[in-house]
Amino acid sequence: SSNAMWGGRFADGPDAIMEAINASIGFDRRLAKQDIEGSRAHAAMLAATGILTDSDAEVIREGLLTVLSEIEAGEFAFSTALEDIHMNVEARLKELVGEPAGRLHTGRSRNDQVATDFKLWVRDQLDAMDAGLTALMKVFVAQAEAGPDMVMPGFTHLQTAQPVTWGHHMLAYVEMFARDRSRVRDARARMNESPLGAAALAGTGFAIDREMTASALGFDRPTANSLDAVSDRDFALEFLSVASICAMHLSRFAEELVIWSSAQFRFVTLSDRFSTGSSIMPQKKNPDAAELLRAKVGRITGALIALLTVMKGLPLAYSKDMQEDKEQVFDAADSMMLSLAAMTGMVADLKPNPEALRAAAAAGFSTATDLADWLVREAGLPFRDAHHVTGALVKMAEDRGCDLADLALEDMQSVNDQITEGVFDVLTVEASVASRISYGGTAPVRVREQIARWKEALA
Ligand code: ARG
Repeated sequence: SSNAMWGGRFADGPDAIMEAINASIGFDRRLAKQDIEGSRAHAAMLAATGILTDSDAEVIREGLLTVLSEIEAGEFAFSTALEDIHMNVEARLKELVGEPAGRLHTGRSRNDQVATDFKLWVRDQLDAMDAGLTALMKVFVAQAEAGPDMVMPGFTHLQTAQPVTWGHHMLAYVEMFARDRSRVRDARARMNESPLGAAALAGTGFAIDREMTASALGFDRPTANSLDAVSDRDFALEFLSVASICAMHLSRFAEELVIWSSAQFRFVTLSDRFSTGSSIMPQKKNPDAAELLRAKVGRITGALIALLTVMKGLPLAYSKDMQEDKEQVFDAADSMMLSLAAMTGMVADLKPNPEALRAAAAAGFSTATDLADWLVREAGLPFRDAHHVTGALVKMAEDRGCDLADLALEDMQSVNDQITEGVFDVLTVEASVASRISYGGTAPVRVREQIARWKEALA
């Protein structure tokens, strides 16, 4: 038998395979709430403009609430033959309220309907991401507060570079997540235009009020071009792009956690709550959550590339290709929210190990730059010459298997006779970090200022 919604010109029903490839109800049922919200706004507008009678609109709006409660209670019988959430809801409405249900679709199409539903859904995700990022930033700031002068090695190439402070390292991530949050807000502001009323692609001859539905649904305004309204998926792509960058940031700290929690580093201890054991090796405590976070970026970025590829080369306006937008976005959003929550929990529980951090900071000639800077400041050497002298001293210490601070003054003077006892003052890791007072530097005094700034901003 042919389809009740569009079967007028069909003699035959679809092949089972056609039904299987065409149906989206298996996943777009997640848009039920948004679909009903959008339809309720549309019905109210149709009544306000005199296109529907008040009593029909009221019956429709009440009926839609019944449908929603059935869906939320898990009592709704979803049908694959009815393709998608839009037709499933409308068909059930028809069963519940009869003839008025058939008037709901006046002046709209599934094309503007799905764009509206999906935008509302993505907008909720952006808001959830905003809240998740704020919570995450707070736990990183709390970690920073626990160690504004706790010395640890700073790395380049994962080789010891210069000592930094734990607080400084934690705040580096706060900066990243703040940019992510600003991208979220930016995307939300840009996407917040209502497609509803663009109809199939050309607009409608009915005297609808798009401003009214836009404002009822919390949009800033209606979209200005009906062709664009039904074919735009930029909002989903921007969400995936923002999420990809954020997941990339999470994966970098996740990687640091994997390295830092290893027996070779022992920089941090992960809580039992965010670790797992091995079924064979009794001693193991594995950073599985961190590893999964490191991996989730693959799924999220994969979704971005998948949807970009779906959209690429699509002629205006709607094509069914666009139905493939949802699963990618749903999966990416689920991964994103879980990742933010897992990282927030892990970081809240994280315990730094100050002794291991300090010992690692002091190893690897990490204060060599401080020695070179001292030669510039105290002996007037050009920096390039100071670099060379310091390199020779590092070589000497390395040959003897000791640190720079363990070299005798006479040995140092054999390389450069302007070196005095005062040089030893700059060779400790504490002196090193304390000296980095330039704006944005790792000196505890600067880190404390930044902690105060973030605490105020996040309060
Ligand atoms: N299920 C469809 C989607 O997700 C809804 C829009 C269908 N529109 C159409 N002209 N077939 O894109």
